[in-house]
Amino acid sequence: MNILKDNFGRTFPYIRMSITDICNFKCGYCLPNGYQVDKSDTRKFLHLNEIRRLSKCFSLLGVNKIRITGGEPTVRKDFFDIIKVLKFDSEIENIAITTNGYHLDQKAKLLAKSGLTGINISIDSLNQETFKNITGHDRLPEILNGIEILQDIGFKNIKINAVLLNGVNSSRKDFDEWSKFIEKNKIDLRYIELMRTGDNLEYFKKYHISSKIFKEYLDENKWIHQTFGKDAGPSLNYINPQYKGKFGIIAPYSKDFCKSCNRLRITSRADLRLCLFGNTGINLRHLLQKDDQLEELRDLILKQMQFKKESHYLELGDTGSTKNLSKTGG
Ligand code: 5AD
Ligand code: SF4
Repeated sequence: MNILKDNFGRTFPYIRMSITDICNFKCGYCLPNGYQVDKSDTRKFLHLNEIRRLSKCFSLLGVNKIRITGGEPTVRKDFFDIIKVLKFDSEIENIAITTNGYHLDQKAKLLAKSGLTGINISIDSLNQETFKNITGHDRLPEILNGIEILQDIGFKNIKINAVLLNGVNSSRKDFDEWSKFIEKNKIDLRYIELMRTGDNLEYFKKYHISSKIFKEYLDENKWIHQTFGKDAGPSLNYINPQYKGKFGIIAPYSKDFCKSCNRLRITSRADLRLCLFGNTGINLRHLLQKDDQLEELRDLILKQMQFKKESHYLELGDTGSTKNLSKTGG
């Protein structure tokens, strides 16, 4: 069988696919002035048929999980059609999304029914005012409501991502609030270290803080580090028998972060990205136009794998071609 494998022995059962750059939030580290149309790039976002062909091809290449990201993926009018196509036409088992939770209370039932197997929601703070300041939207209550509805229907795989921001959500009190939350909710909360992108240098300087402080908090409070599972990816996970949920840390600047990389990315305009921060990768669009191009597409993707580098070079200040993460979905 052809499977996706690079020169460093890593395999790639997991694809992150961005379906739009558009986002309705204004997170300070990503789109502080809101989404602006990029006039230099007139290429359209992936069409439903292109998504169908791509996912079919990836399933032939041994991929068993696709995560749909944005921008904010749910702003697409055909969002639920896309989920349907992935679910029923691709044979990929796990279909997950990453969302900012906009209107989650209204969408929860549809999302749960759509066949999605996982939902990641970005919530940087459980404090309503802080949430509003970071995202530019006073929407924390509707998101928390939405999460409750998902749980009531029995939706199982919910994760929350919070970007760790110095002096904003990095205090013991913030950590305690999340502890209380996951004590009762079977939800994984992962703090992500702020990443420097082409656009956010000043913000990065002001708010970046190492995840060590959170790790120390976990150690003090007897959280137990869970060793990696097979498909664990780059998150360090912590469990505590008294809590229903888990904690996690995503620390892209840590030494061995890239060793466990198990993902490739597709941008909203059909570029294959071998690394979130690398500028290696090519456009696949010309091979997404007809069903009979499947083999050619497969061969091209396989050939690209030899260009995947061992590591990003973020710690050397190299942000690759990444202006902000709304283009590649984090
Ligand atoms: N650093 C760390 N995380 C980021 N995200 C977006 N931009 C950055 C950044 N510069 C996160 C979002 C979301 C996920 C898709 O990526 O908050 O949780
Ligand atoms: Fe939108 Fe996500 Fe960027 Fe926030 S981090 S502005 S929710 S794309």
